[in-house]
Amino acid sequence: MGPISRYSTRMSLSVPPYVAPETMDVLFSTAQISERVKAIGKQISEDYKGHSIVLIGVLKGAAIFLSDLARSIEVDNTFDFVAVSSYGRARVSSGAVKLIKDIDNPIEGKHVIIVEDILDTGLTLSYLRGLMLQHKPASLKIATCLDKPERRLVPIEADYVGFKIPNRFVIGYGMDYAERYRGVEDIRIFPETPPGH
Ligand code: PRP
Repeated sequence: MGPISRYSTRMSLSVPPYVAPETMDVLFSTAQISERVKAIGKQISEDYKGHSIVLIGVLKGAAIFLSDLARSIEVDNTFDFVAVSSYGRARVSSGAVKLIKDIDNPIEGKHVIIVEDILDTGLTLSYLRGLMLQHKPASLKIATCLDKPERRLVPIEADYVGFKIPNRFVIGYGMDYAERYRGVEDIRIFPETPPGH
């Protein structure tokens, strides 16, 4: 999470008190996540049969989804990571996104899938898609674990979506609140008003 995060418009930037994840409502269980990830992996394996693919995960949130997805894909695949700073996204209407870690290996002529944990305003993926297209991949698709269509500010859709969700703040399965909870195995709804507030 960069200095300004996707929730900073409504949450304080000071370090918040810890809320135990067990107290939060489960949106998707580990079984539901596993089933969807396997289904996406199967679909990707069919779509790219006979080809090699490169998965590009967007740090940090996508790391866990990518690690499960890569293990559900049967075609030859490698993976790489990029990192972006979301500084200014919540406050500046330009929605500036800055690359802070580029891909390690060339993707020219390769079949690429950008892997995200969540597609929200679409600013991050829109920026990354433009950037990756400059590398002239053979093809470029997007896989996201979660999609919040009602938050979209720019027109962009993912080719593979785990779950479409309403506009609720979620944590777990790689997703954080103030860097916490990424290791929570299921996906839970972070309370709008945490206990003690
Ligand atoms: C989250 C998420 C996406 C981005 C999506 O990243 O991982 O990269 O926001 O939002 P958008 O569609 O509005 O651009 P975050 O900045 O929270 O960083 P993180 O992945 O390190 O948690």
